[in-house]
Amino acid sequence: MKKVILNHKMNLTYNEVENYIDYLDKVKKNIIVLPSSLYVKKFIDSGFITGLQNVYFDDTGAYTGEISAYQAKSLGVEYALIGHSERRNLFNEDSDIINKKIKSAIKNGLKVILCVGESSKDVLYKQITSALEDVNEDVIISYEPIYAIGTGVIPKLEDVEEKINYIKSLVNTKVLYGGSVNSSNIDELNKVKNIDGFLIGSAGLDPEEVMKILEVVW
Ligand code: PGA
Repeated sequence: MKKVILNHKMNLTYNEVENYIDYLDKVKKNIIVLPSSLYVKKFIDSGFITGLQNVYFDDTGAYTGEISAYQAKSLGVEYALIGHSERRNLFNEDSDIINKKIKSAIKNGLKVILCVGESSKDVLYKQITSALEDVNEDVIISYEPIYAIGTGVIPKLEDVEEKINYIKSLVNTKVLYGGSVNSSNIDELNKVKNIDGFLIGSAGLDPEEVMKILEVVW
């Protein structure tokens, strides 16, 4: 089954989260939710599969405001999203930090979703090889062209297929697509043959949208 991963970013109040959880109860085992870290425990206690949107690479220590993969694992979190373009661009995460975060997540038993996002194959190659240096375990990759994130613009389907093929030629793994996926374009995107799932941002905040997307993806 294709993976449907919902990246909430820094959105939703606690009340909205409670409504979201009630609405999606029947499909909770078919989606992976990356909520604000504040709400992760609530999702886990309600039976959802969860991930963090980011992890720090040391297990414990004097890092005010950070959350580690080690702590996430102790709570029952299963996934870690690493290398999202917002982390790279707004929080200056470079390939060295991303590589350390991946290793820490794997060491602590989390499944990694690595985001890569450039349109040029050269940059994609560099992003993937540097992120996965000395990493032998499986890592899911999400291809998210920067111009498609939060803009409503999606790439040409041939382009998505070509980039996903290219990524699969470098790493034998599952590759997702992310960037402006919603209920209006999911029909089209779901036709791309080699896509193993979707990483969804803004549309994933609305549970009705999530249900519409799932109806197509299933
Ligand atoms: P979007 O975000 O669906 O709002 O474009 C996707 C992402 O950033 O993962």
